Amino acid sequence: MVQLVHDPAAFRDACDRLRAQGERVGLVPTMGALHEGHLALVDEAKAKGATAVVVTIFVNPKQFDRDDDLRRYPRTLDSDLEACEARGVSLVFAPEADAMYPEGFQTHVQVGALAEELEGTYRPGHFLGVTTIVAKLFILTGACVAVFGRKDYQQWRIIDRMTRDLGLPVTVVGHPIVREEDGLALSSRNQLLEDADRPRALAIARGLKAASAAWDAGERSAEALTALARAPIEADFDRIDYVRVIDPVTLEGLDGAVERALLVVAAHLGPVRLIDNLELGVDPPPTPG
Ligand code: PAF
Repeated sequence: MVQLVHDPAAFRDACDRLRAQGERVGLVPTMGALHEGHLALVDEAKAKGATAVVVTIFVNPKQFDRDDDLRRYPRTLDSDLEACEARGVSLVFAPEADAMYPEGFQTHVQVGALAEELEGTYRPGHFLGVTTIVAKLFILTGACVAVFGRKDYQQWRIIDRMTRDLGLPVTVVGHPIVREEDGLALSSRNQLLEDADRPRALAIARGLKAASAAWDAGERSAEALTALARAPIEADFDRIDYVRVIDPVTLEGLDGAVERALLVVAAHLGPVRLIDNLELGVDPPPTPG
């Protein structure tokens, strides 16, 4: 069975030992409820030269802006361990909350402008929780290549910025979105969708596909691309937080004609909030199904 550690000091020692044995460590931080999207990150770590991949599984309370969301978040440690074993993961770190945030904890890592818009606006405190836990995981792991999914595109950019700003010995890699055949972006939150809502969730993929097709046909107007993506989502979702065209590097909103862009979406179906995005004019642009 894959090695499982719960204690942060034991995890740090295990990572140090791997490096001492000549392994190149790959890190895949997760909140568990692993799906093929996470396992693709394990493969990507290996493709980027990691010879020993460690997966962390921690439902980080500090990054949830709603208690009900934290309570409902799926927890499936046994099947996660089996999936890690089957994918050739060397080590899993699954700490308890009080091991990561012992009594008296009061230090946070905050990234600036990149964390303010989009998810930063709609989920206050979310990124402060993400960057704090990821900084802790990076420090415990030590030198490594760390892989994140670009479904959480803003998160990936923020973590990359934080890593460079703090000079951490980590190479941050962003892996393209992994989708179901019908286009739904893989997410642990998909498990929370009611059966009747699953087909409605595809409205996001339909919207992104329409924008992608228009882009391929030469459409470059940020407003037109936004409108194409928004229409099906507006029809099928209960509430939209944003559908926006932004700069893929600075994450600032774009108007008028765009040369390259990221189309970002966040919307609600009942109690489930889904996010997705489409890279336009970025080589190679991932296309929704
Ligand atoms: O993307 C996630 O699953 C989480 O935000 C992360 C990066 C594991 C931090 O808790």
